[in-house]
Amino acid sequence: MDNISGKRIILGVSGGIAVYKAVELLRLLTKSGADVHVVMTGAAQEFVTPLTFQTLSSNPVHLDLFNLIAEREISHISLADRADLFIVAPATANVIGKIACGIADDMLTTTIMATKAPVLIAPAMNVNMYTNPIYRENEQKLIRNGYLFVDPVSGSLACGWEGQGKLAAPEAIFEAAVAALSIKDLADHTIMVTAGPTREEIDPVRYISNHSSGKMGYALARAAVRRGARVILVSGPTCLTVPDGVELVAVESACEMRAAVMSRVGLCDVVIKAAAVADYRPLERKTAKIKKKSEHMSIELQKNPDILAELGAMQKRPFLVGFAAETCDLSEYALKKLKAKNLDMIVANDVSQVDAGFNVETNRALLLFRNGRSEECSLMTKDGLAVIILDSIAAELACRTPAD
Ligand code: CTP
Repeated sequence: MDNISGKRIILGVSGGIAVYKAVELLRLLTKSGADVHVVMTGAAQEFVTPLTFQTLSSNPVHLDLFNLIAEREISHISLADRADLFIVAPATANVIGKIACGIADDMLTTTIMATKAPVLIAPAMNVNMYTNPIYRENEQKLIRNGYLFVDPVSGSLACGWEGQGKLAAPEAIFEAAVAALSIKDLADHTIMVTAGPTREEIDPVRYISNHSSGKMGYALARAAVRRGARVILVSGPTCLTVPDGVELVAVESACEMRAAVMSRVGLCDVVIKAAAVADYRPLERKTAKIKKKSEHMSIELQKNPDILAELGAMQKRPFLVGFAAETCDLSEYALKKLKAKNLDMIVANDVSQVDAGFNVETNRALLLFRNGRSEECSLMTKDGLAVIILDSIAAELACRTPAD
């Protein structure tokens, strides 16, 4: 779940080979329920026809400042007034220069100048243009004035040069758009999220682990960054992409996770422990691969430290959110964990269900709070559940007095 649905977004497209990526960005925005209105410069139309954007946005494309038929229905001013967000992708050095200097000589630059909505600019240009001091000054001036940027990435450029100047991936621009539209209610908070499984090595080639994919923790980290929090993600091994803006601390074992958490907990006012920490590790890690010999073998295990319980026992502890992975008696076990580990809140999952818990895209959960309140969350995406969990955390934090 994101906050794009129902939002009116103006997508300004200026001329460059990367125009084709704006088509993909438009698809991502409309798929999420945004009402997208495209404004194209003359140069952009040399690369992709307006019909492509019109078909995919289901809205007329705005090309001409003085199109009388279009003006009767919706002028550049009402387009600007009614926007929740303005995205310029790709943004050429020329368009960025014009915006910075207050030049409004076409539909795109005029609408941007007239809008009060946040403007998100995704530049794409030759590396020498990108590093040109005049461009840099223009960009700095716009940043000082509150314009948002999604930096271009490095790679081989259409002009034959290698370097920074390629339009950011449509997914990265989409993510920046979601962040731009988010209320920054967690801006004053540092949140640590733990995610994924831990691996407890048996020998150099084998380990004990579990089915956790890390998706729930990564969804929480992504949602918290969007809301303005500083996020430290302590993650066991996963195949997931680290969300932009998140500080990753990669760990393997429960003991490594404990060390990573304990050395950073002083920085945080909220800790969300979504990781599926292995409860036991082999008593002894063999230095050489164990050879198969007898019909049966056993490995002696030793209990791992309970990181969350240790956090709960701290004298000055952060706001603590635990997870309870259960296969039966969900609320009973979760409530026990909430009390035993001295938590503020616990998210209880029935991991025996095929559509919830480990390694799936969706989750359903029961939220239990220290004050006895509870909230049932029906089946939804992990991104959606992350938003609900953070809503609860934000509400609880807002009620706290500084002495708490
Ligand atoms: N947890 C932890 N350190 C551990 C084990 C668990 O920090 N060594 C945290 C998890 O990250 C989770 C919460 O404790 O937030 C509950 O984890 P869970 O596996 O559901 O429960 P356990 O406490 O391990 O108890 P049990 O396995 O008996 O259900």
